Amino acid sequence: MNNRPIGIFDSGVGGLTVVKQMFKRLPHESIVYLGDTARVPYGTKSPETIKRFSIENADFLMKFNVKLIVVACNTASSTSMEELIKHVRVPVVGVIKPGAKKAVSVTRNNRIGIIGTHTTIKSRAYEREIKSLSRDIDVVSKPCPLFVPLVEEGWLLEKATFAIAEKYLASFRRKSIDTLVLGCTHYPLLKHVIARVMGRKVKIIDSASSVADEVNTILMSMGELSGGEGKPRHRFFATDAVEHFVRVGEKFLGTKIQRAERASYV
Ligand code: DGL
Repeated sequence: MNNRPIGIFDSGVGGLTVVKQMFKRLPHESIVYLGDTARVPYGTKSPETIKRFSIENADFLMKFNVKLIVVACNTASSTSMEELIKHVRVPVVGVIKPGAKKAVSVTRNNRIGIIGTHTTIKSRAYEREIKSLSRDIDVVSKPCPLFVPLVEEGWLLEKATFAIAEKYLASFRRKSIDTLVLGCTHYPLLKHVIARVMGRKVKIIDSASSVADEVNTILMSMGELSGGEGKPRHRFFATDAVEHFVRVGEKFLGTKIQRAERASYV
C-alpha cells in the first residue's frame, strides 16, 4: 500500500478529462494536478520546447513526493516520454500507449483514425505505437486544431462546431475507418459531435479512460495502490490565470473545484 499522491500534468485544463476518469476508476487515490496555463497551447509548439516544459512540470510534481506521474497531455506524451522516464525516479504513464492499445483491440477492419493537435499528429507517436502492436493496421491521421478553442469557449453543440467537425472528419469517412482515437485532452468533450458526424459504425476511443486503467494496473502490480484509509486529498495547480482555470476546468472535470493554487515556477 502506498498513500502518496499521483501527479498529473497537462498544458492547461484539458487534462482534467483524465482526472475525471481517475476519480471514477481509482477513487481512493490522492491527486496533485498541474495545468501549465501560462504556456498553453503546447499543440503548436516544437518538440524541444515541449520537452523542456514537461521536465519542469515533472520537477514541480516531484516536490509533492508523487508515486507516479501521468502525462495527461497528448502533445507532451507524443514528444517527451523518453526524457521524462529518464528524468524521474517514479513510473511515468502517457496517454498514447493506452489509447493505441485500446484502438487495436477494438478495430475489426484494421483501419484506425487518429485526431489530435498539429504537434501530436506530426510526431506520428500514435501511428508508431499502433504499428508496434500490429503491422497490418492502416492508420490515417489528421490534426483538428480548432476543436481546442471551441471546447474552451464551451461551444459543444453549436452549428459551427458540427460544421467544423464535418470538414475535418470527411476524409475519415472516405477512408472507411471503423475506430477513431480522440488524441487530445479536449476532444472527449466533443465526443457526441464527433460520433454523430462519423456515424454509429465508428467506435470512438477516448484515451482518458484507458489511462486510468493503465495506472490501476501499474500500481496494483507494484503493490502501490492507496490503502483507502481516510479521504483522498486532491490539489489543483495552474501556472497562470487560476480563476479562469477553475471556471473552465469544472466543465472538464464535471464537478466543482473547491480550490486551485498558483504554481509559480514558470
Ligand atoms: N493538452 C493538449 C493535448 O492533449 C491540447 C491543448 C494544447 O495544445 O496544449 O494535446
